[in-house]
Amino acid sequence: MNVPFIDFTEQYQAIKDRVDKGLKKVFEKGNFILGEEEKAFEAEFAKFCDCKYAVGVNSGTDALYLALGSLNITVGDEVIIPTYTFIATALCISYTGAKPVFIDIEENTYNIDPEKLEATITRDTKAIIPVHLYGQPANMDEIKAIAQKHGIAVIEDACQAHGATYKGTKTGALGDIGCFSFYPTKSLGAFGDGGIIVTNKEEINESIQMLRDYGRKDRYEHKVKGFNSRLDTVQAVVLSAKLEFLNEWNRMRNVHAAYYCELLKDVTAVKTPAIQPDRTHVFQTFAVRVPNRNKVLEQMKGKGIGVLIHYPIPVHLQEAYADMGHKKGDFPVSETVADEILSLPMFPHMSKGQIEYVCTTLKVLCRQGQNV
Ligand SMILES: Cc1ncc(COP(=O)(O)O)c(C=O)c1O
Repeated sequence: MNVPFIDFTEQYQAIKDRVDKGLKKVFEKGNFILGEEEKAFEAEFAKFCDCKYAVGVNSGTDALYLALGSLNITVGDEVIIPTYTFIATALCISYTGAKPVFIDIEENTYNIDPEKLEATITRDTKAIIPVHLYGQPANMDEIKAIAQKHGIAVIEDACQAHGATYKGTKTGALGDIGCFSFYPTKSLGAFGDGGIIVTNKEEINESIQMLRDYGRKDRYEHKVKGFNSRLDTVQAVVLSAKLEFLNEWNRMRNVHAAYYCELLKDVTAVKTPAIQPDRTHVFQTFAVRVPNRNKVLEQMKGKGIGVLIHYPIPVHLQEAYADMGHKKGDFPVSETVADEILSLPMFPHMSKGQIEYVCTTLKVLCRQGQNV
């Protein structure tokens, strides 16, 4: 049997008619940039997140970058992030000239550890970017309490957590600003790059509206040095069609995750995700921890199973950030998780048979090796 890491074929069938019709209209009208379909999608996504405003941009990376820009974060400032994340969380800070300050993660959720936060705050700290890794929200109450105490902004990196909730509140609406990616493999993915920023703050909305459109105040007047970072109308058509199914697709992912956990519960070598009772997980990624991960990865691939690693190298150990002078041992939890983590196939339309095959294979490999 072959089990791909992701297969969106059936997902495409569900939206095909609506996308075909929507795209035809856009092609006929030619309103490719900030057309009414894009505006409509922004309104739909804002509603989905229970936020007042949503601004479509080029990518999740740009969403984070423009969010920092709207807070005037610049050279000399510091922004705290977990080191265990996709590198874009750090890059967006570097683009502004500010300094990313890394901290370690919680062992159970793989999210930023609020207990390590306060010791890292300095007079230059301007923001914290918690990442809702794999689709489970970070410990937002504790993060927000510390941020409030120190007058620091909270920007959510919700690029992997569309529709997840923390104590009943949707991601994106938890901090001052929420940033999402629509990279095609995300649980809400475009047919290319895309991203969006949500907020309840009028001044932030106004600032980001300008920043994504050359700093434009109106047609010919440019108030700030902005960028060209807008969500294409054609992508908005696709995203609008998919958004209607997102709750259902997230529910399906949860059913699969529960089945994985059930089948793996007696395999002591495999550590399945720990879902916190006060939040919902949307399982953008289903990641387990296994000993001898690299060997298991190769063996699983050999059995026709699509497996990946999110992420084998924490950002503080990436060559791109060598200039910050970190070394192995600085953030031990992140480093251990990076050595053991393994992402198993996860997509809404996968079958029980596929999950059973993945789990049986993993079980055999773990037993064989005692090894592994
Ligand atoms: C946690 C995280 N942050 C930021 C990004 C960047 O998003 P994009 O690829 O749309 O630029 C991604 C996705 O790739 C991500 O997973």
